[in-house]
Amino acid sequence: QKMMFLYNSALKEIKTKMDILQEELKLFSNYDPIEYISMRIKKPESILEKLKRKNLAPTYGNMFEEITDIAGVRIVCNFKKDVYRLVEIIEDFQDVRLLNKKDYLKNPKKSGYMSYHLVVEVPVNFSSGIMYVKVEMQLRTLAMDFWASLEHKLKYKSEYCTDSISTKLIDISSQLHNIDREMLELVNMENEIKLLQEGE
Ligand code: GTP
Ligand code: MG
Repeated sequence: QKMMFLYNSALKEIKTKMDILQEELKLFSNYDPIEYISMRIKKPESILEKLKRKNLAPTYGNMFEEITDIAGVRIVCNFKKDVYRLVEIIEDFQDVRLLNKKDYLKNPKKSGYMSYHLVVEVPVNFSSGIMYVKVEMQLRTLAMDFWASLEHKLKYKSEYCTDSISTKLIDISSQLHNIDREMLELVNMENEIKLLQEGE
């Protein structure tokens, strides 16, 4: 319960930071890159499972140090360029420590999975002092999120997935990637037309 309180506090901190950022970008730059943000805390049984998978003893120390995705935030964006812009901004947050980043947009996983992953440490102030708590941030587009949630149900860590399902999923992932690009082209076209008309 105490550990969950710790991770929950870290999630509240990072959520507030992202909410403020979203409002600021909207208000001052007329830029609205975030579609939605969701959060979750890993269940105790999944934490124990992961420690076992990593051949680590089930201690609080190992949990705190070695499992980086107990607290998770997912930020779903409109476009790929928004994901990169947000990563840059988060990297520049003065009080958030960046521990690790993985660009599965540039290098999709074998499964077809695409997302930008950041592992950060967020400062949380308690009566006894400050603690830095690890949070895994996943940034992706709506299309990537759509793919990942369906694929998760179908396959991720499941033993019932056949090769043909896997191949089809990889194919769908690359089709969605093209759709992401085409959507961006549409928005760019629209902006150009708007600029031209404003200039007239
Ligand atoms: P885990 O042990 O599963 O956490 O993976 P990892 O330690 O190798 O880290 P990685 O950054 O690759 O993945 C972390 C998280 O990304 C996972 O817990 C999932 O939420 C998500 N993820 C990674 N690969 C896939 C995938 O192929 N499909 C889906 N749906 N999600 C994935
Ligand atoms: Mg995980």
